[in-house]
Amino acid sequence: MLFVLIHASLFKTCPHQKNKSFGHLSKRSKFLWPRTKQLTVAKLSAGASNTDRDSSYSSSKRGEDRAYSEITAANRSLLDRAKKVKSVCIVGATGFVGQQLVTLLAKAGVELTIVTRDVARAKATFGKYERRGYSLQYCQLPSLVLDQDVNFKACLAKKDAVVNLAGAPIAGKRWSEAYKDELISSRVRVTQKIVEMIMSMDKEERPKVLINASAVGYYGVSDSKEFDESSPPGDDFLAVLCRKWESAARQLDQSFGTRVVILRFGIVVGSGGGVLGSMTPIFQMFLGGPVGTGRQWISWIQIMDLVNLIIRSITDENMLGVFNACSPEPVTMNDFCETLGNIIGRPNWLPVPTFVIRAMLGEGSIVVLEGQRVYPSRTLASGFHFQYPNIYSALEASINVS
Ligand SMILES: NC(=O)c1ccc[n+]([C@@H]2O[C@H](COP(=O)([O-])OP(=O)(O)OC[C@H]3O[C@@H](n4cnc5c(N)ncnc54)[C@H](OP(=O)(O)O)[C@@H]3O)[C@@H](O)[C@H]2O)c1
Repeated sequence: MLFVLIHASLFKTCPHQKNKSFGHLSKRSKFLWPRTKQLTVAKLSAGASNTDRDSSYSSSKRGEDRAYSEITAANRSLLDRAKKVKSVCIVGATGFVGQQLVTLLAKAGVELTIVTRDVARAKATFGKYERRGYSLQYCQLPSLVLDQDVNFKACLAKKDAVVNLAGAPIAGKRWSEAYKDELISSRVRVTQKIVEMIMSMDKEERPKVLINASAVGYYGVSDSKEFDESSPPGDDFLAVLCRKWESAARQLDQSFGTRVVILRFGIVVGSGGGVLGSMTPIFQMFLGGPVGTGRQWISWIQIMDLVNLIIRSITDENMLGVFNACSPEPVTMNDFCETLGNIIGRPNWLPVPTFVIRAMLGEGSIVVLEGQRVYPSRTLASGFHFQYPNIYSALEASINVS
């Protein structure tokens, strides 16, 4: 029972999700697991593990120098691109993806407006940046029922970009009817509210671009089909949710002068949270293993690639419409777990049976028991370069083993 409960924590994150090279992963990883000893969260990414970061260096010049030195050469060019942006408003900035984005944009000197349900908590999360002299403002997420909100409108106005990441957690919960309503309203109503505010602005006040999150769950689930941006939507709850979420964003058509980019996120892989924050401790305790059949597809993206794609969507005026934010090399759950076990030097051997997850999560179990094999055709065609195209490099970059 204890084992099951520990494994259940795996689902506290948000897994949604043409494989050319994953076959080699299993071969590479088999029988290698005892090789490593100690694991730490990688500080490769600009915004990784903010709390660690806060305690690990002071706001002194020396601390700042160390923070910058943690940015790899690739991320430094990302930072340089971000420096071209003047002002960004982020809704849902306190989450896993938002914190990474805020860190990078703050370092680049971008004026940031954080829209949140809890300003005090957001200030506690991001206070370290203000102490270092970065520019952050806070805005209360308004009531979703009122038609107008002057404060909120002012927070969105005259920005280079509005990035909407808000949404109640999808994974790790039993979906009651009430919670399904919250999953929908926290995405669709928040997006509608943003769009309504922008449409009510004078043209010169409107933000230049709205970047709206969505998920590869849009395509529905399948073990055999492949999907890309041109594929039709699925018909399960998550697919319908994504469709409504996206159509709320699309209400802002080009005639309003604000470009709309919809990014369909795969499972986000990075240090300090998300799927790895949940799975790594289980593997460290020698309790790791695939969930369900292990054959379900995981379409994933390394968090710095996602931050890069968001910044690219802000700065590249040619980007318009839907882009899959997932690597070109999806993997099966089995391959994901095998690779993780190999990298941290632990076995991948204790599967969690399908019936256990169904019993615990009900309809919400679809998030981990099923998946989809999604290919980012339009994203690649736009010239975007994935720094971490395969799962081995992405996991290795997110986890330091010494
Ligand atoms: N992480 C993934 O693997 C993944 C995959 C596919 C899609 N996505 C989607 O991408 C977006 C960002 O992902 P994430 O991992 O950063 O999400 P996250 O860590 O769960 O953060 C989402 C943010 O949304 C806000 N929020 C939560 N509940 C809300 C509610 N009931 N009403 C309004 N706002 C609410 C919160 O901000 P405040 O508390 O400050 O208001 C929270 O920080 C989410 O919409 C998520 O569904 C994520």
